Amino acid sequence: MIPLEDNVGDIIGKAQRGLGISDSKLAEKARVSSETIRKLREGDFDESALVSVAPILGLNGRALCELARDEWHPEKIEACDGLSQFNTDYHGMAVNAYLVWDPASRAAATFDTGADCDDIVRFVNRHKLDVQLILLTHAHADHVADLPRLREETGAEVFTPAREPVPGAEPIEEGKRFRLGSLQIDTRLTWGHSQGGMTYVVAGLARPVAIVGDSLFAGSMGGGNVSYADALRNNLEKILTLPDETIICPGHGPMTTVGEEKQHNPFFAGKV
Ligand SMILES: [Fe+2]
Repeated sequence: MIPLEDNVGDIIGKAQRGLGISDSKLAEKARVSSETIRKLREGDFDESALVSVAPILGLNGRALCELARDEWHPEKIEACDGLSQFNTDYHGMAVNAYLVWDPASRAAATFDTGADCDDIVRFVNRHKLDVQLILLTHAHADHVADLPRLREETGAEVFTPAREPVPGAEPIEEGKRFRLGSLQIDTRLTWGHSQGGMTYVVAGLARPVAIVGDSLFAGSMGGGNVSYADALRNNLEKILTLPDETIICPGHGPMTTVGEEKQHNPFFAGKV
């Protein structure tokens, strides 16, 4: 089982950086010591301190405590014909890439490349898939690391968000629609973690699937490096409004669903 990408300390750190709230400011507002804040970020489980800092950081206290107690992990997504996750190691950090295919025509698309596309290429050959598209969620190095080789192995066309140009990839804007056999892939701009982060929503499989890159993680989200406020808003408006059964495929950590994130993600629980 792939572990959650972020622990409670990471989540508090991301919210603090996103909102520009220093340790001393947070301590003052939550009426706890700066030392307590530092300990929370190091993973020290102090339920009353967590409940005090949560509202100041716009986080859901119940969901934070649940994660701190290790009480929640998204339910394992049952193997689904048409979707596969590939988890590779990029300089000590695990990164995900995905394959989606139309079970009838075998037309396939990969989403990002991961650190190394060996497993993807092997899977494609074993299952006789025809990779027609390589769709990039964003251009951070860990997500596009093996692009030259994946393109050469598959001969597929490559598309990247227009705001994040990648050599040899065709730029796309929000609203661009792809067809893959009988599947339809729509694009939603979910920037904030990166300048042009794109979410790809696939329709036509047994359940809807959203490949979200680092916009959203199971129980967390990518750091709002470009705009924390827009990252939050885009996740709420463009991902968590999808049907509850939608499978979310994040760039790091396990797969999850819209329904689970609405309940258990401290950034969003109680807001949708
Ligand atoms: Fe990223």
